[in-house]
Amino acid sequence: MSANLSGQQFGGQDELLERLPARPKLLRELVVVPAGPDAVTFYGTQKPQTLRCPQGLKKLSELLALLDGRHSLDEISQDLASHFSGGVTGLVSLLFRYGLLEDGDAQSGNDEPVGCYAARFCGSSGYHANRDAAIAQADAVRLLVACPQPVRAALCASLGGGTLGTLRVVHSAAEVAGSEHTHALLVLSGGVEDEELLKVADALHASKRPYFIGTLGSDCMHLGPLVLPGLSASHRCARLQLSAPAPLADPLEAEFQCAYIAHEWLQIALGLLTETYLNKVRVHPVDSRGAYPVNKPIARIPGSLFGGLATAACLAPDDPAFAAWVHHVSVRMPPKEWLAPRLFEGHFKMANLKLYGAPVTRSYALGTLTLPAAAELPSHAGGSSVQAACDEPSLAQLAAILLYAVGEQTLEDGSRRRIAPSGGSLRSCSFYVLVNHLAQLASGLYLYDGETDSLIPVKVASLVALRQLLYGTEHAPCPVSLVASSHLGRVRNKYQDFGFNLVHWDAGIACQYATLVASVFGLRVVQPALLQAERCAELLNLNTQEHAQIASSVLHLGGPMSAPANQLLSSSSSTAQELLIGAGHTRACHVGQSLPGWVPPSPEGRDNTLDVASLLLGRRATYRYAEQPISTSCLVRLVVSAHRALVAHQERGGPRLDVWPWLLLMRPDGSMTPGIYDCRKPAPEQWVQRASPLTPAMFAECFNQQGFQKAGAALVFMADLEQSFSQMGRPVYSLLLQQAGGAAVATWLEALAMGLVGCTVGGIIEAGFMRLAGTDGYCETPLFSLVLGHSIEDGAC
Ligand SMILES: Cc1cc2nc3c(=O)[nH]c(=O)nc-3n(C[C@H](O)[C@H](O)[C@H](O)COP(=O)(O)O)c2cc1C
Repeated sequence: MSANLSGQQFGGQDELLERLPARPKLLRELVVVPAGPDAVTFYGTQKPQTLRCPQGLKKLSELLALLDGRHSLDEISQDLASHFSGGVTGLVSLLFRYGLLEDGDAQSGNDEPVGCYAARFCGSSGYHANRDAAIAQADAVRLLVACPQPVRAALCASLGGGTLGTLRVVHSAAEVAGSEHTHALLVLSGGVEDEELLKVADALHASKRPYFIGTLGSDCMHLGPLVLPGLSASHRCARLQLSAPAPLADPLEAEFQCAYIAHEWLQIALGLLTETYLNKVRVHPVDSRGAYPVNKPIARIPGSLFGGLATAACLAPDDPAFAAWVHHVSVRMPPKEWLAPRLFEGHFKMANLKLYGAPVTRSYALGTLTLPAAAELPSHAGGSSVQAACDEPSLAQLAAILLYAVGEQTLEDGSRRRIAPSGGSLRSCSFYVLVNHLAQLASGLYLYDGETDSLIPVKVASLVALRQLLYGTEHAPCPVSLVASSHLGRVRNKYQDFGFNLVHWDAGIACQYATLVASVFGLRVVQPALLQAERCAELLNLNTQEHAQIASSVLHLGGPMSAPANQLLSSSSSTAQELLIGAGHTRACHVGQSLPGWVPPSPEGRDNTLDVASLLLGRRATYRYAEQPISTSCLVRLVVSAHRALVAHQERGGPRLDVWPWLLLMRPDGSMTPGIYDCRKPAPEQWVQRASPLTPAMFAECFNQQGFQKAGAALVFMADLEQSFSQMGRPVYSLLLQQAGGAAVATWLEALAMGLVGCTVGGIIEAGFMRLAGTDGYCETPLFSLVLGHSIEDGAC
């Protein structure tokens, strides 16, 4: 990463700029060693960092000398800006990213080993501006400790005398009641003493304060979970989901393991870790096999005593749907106070920038077919925007559908971009085109290459089998089908298991775009749930190794076809992987039913007078908002639009799912109050206020980016997972994400038509909803959201 690029990134993002130290100070523990005529290497933090300065070491040392905690960035810039390309912000932001700076605002006088340690590592999580803040956090900790008697002395010694505010050892559950602790640490050993210790843990759970569990063992030790009672998996849930380590007899080994547990917990208490251990146990092998440590995701168990969801029906760990539940909770963001502030910077890492620029479509040796110019989308100005119903798309219409959904377009400024949004801009979705009978294109399978706007013929083992899978018969009932495939491997490079959610939202969005464009051409669209996704991926010859590519959904275009009955569902350590493998289980699902009392809307639920092309081309993720209120009439239209999109999905043949919108309203007009509204029913008189007021700080508790608190409102797509799992089992999770993605983007376009701007947001913090609106994260859980506001540039709605 160059200082120039870093300077551009920090200069262009308020969220990054605001995090730079006000008075940057180079850590005094660092050892700086020249590494050539224009480079130095800094030693002393997590890893050595080399910094190049084309202006030479003399200029660099002038800058480093000013990083003394007394000069502000502006003052340093005044002295030195002209000497550095990318400005002082470029170099300072680079040093900050490397974790070499702290904020010199405070005394920063702590030269004790713990202070020095905190300074060297506090940069990695960004919780603290400097060592003093880290030490102050530790000082506020009132810790309860419980452990087997033989390791008590070793554990307490490892926790460091005087680092924490107070440390109290407890021996029984009775001692926990009424205790004023802020944190607790409990070590289990697999021995007889565990019975009493588990009762202590039960009492800790009842006290509703955080506690951390470590378990000693002779084959492996367990670190975690950290339990936030009522929010995350408890000690009892962990024991039901993981086999316990074998008991440990060696006292020396036990002391060593205690030191490790204490070290890990202290790092959490000092805010030095980005790992939270929420819904997670790190299984660390300690025998001679030399295996790697593995993080095992776990979840609280609905319907169990210590699941914190006592009113829910039991969802046992051996139920296939439990895999979806574990995945869901393990990709949730931690509560704001546990969320490492520097995670956001991850988006701007070189590896992620490269990923963003890397092409997505693989090519085949069979040549390509250039598509004709895409048909123009009928515009409002030209009369009716929706053409009369037709049975078969022309090639130009097919080209337009593909171009808008997953293709790249040249914009007015000459740049090329995919106009449909995708998580992290990684363009995870591609379309395969199965041509059955089209006048201008030979039947067969093609892959649409969105970068060159062409079709690549694809050879597969059996088109008959593919048709059989998609239509239930080898006689195709529609001229053409689109199968959405997702580059899960690509997205997981950056987002790990959360990538599973992103690719399904992206697929829902791409299908929504394709449906919209098809519907303005008057084409029928049928969108059944793709339930045999694994078999489909095989038949498409996707790269299924570690699920690098998956088949996510299907659209049938044209033809006099009615929605087919849904087919029966068919059926590691990564939760995404768990979700993608193994047998699913099927329960009855309702197809194509409208909401009670709901009048089906016009084609695809869309206002016929909207100019679809300019909406699609004009939509951009927007992060700066004016302070203007959003009128209630706009909000009503948006909620109705969200419902319409969900109903339209069912009418295209999708299953009826328990997804509905909530409204988080910060800037109302005079007729509403700020708050959180459950809009399960579209009519505003039936909205239920779940919280009030809603301040920007409260809003910020619900989303991962600070900047969103400047927005006016958010629509959040909620789901009832208990109901969904009981109806359709594990496969429902992907369908929920897709429906939420499709409905969110349809609502976004509607908002745009009303003059609002915004952004779809996957970075939701569940704990904010729980705290503010009393959701349980299961029967009411937020899936996906759309943050909205008025544009800084223009006027009212
Ligand atoms: C599924 C999905 C999830 C997203 N999540 C976030 C998010 O959590 N935070 C954010 O700032 N932007 C989020 N975005 C916005 C994308 O980053 C943005 O759409 C993308 O960079 C493309 O830019 P464009 O929308 O201007 O075309 C998300 C978009 C999608 C489609």
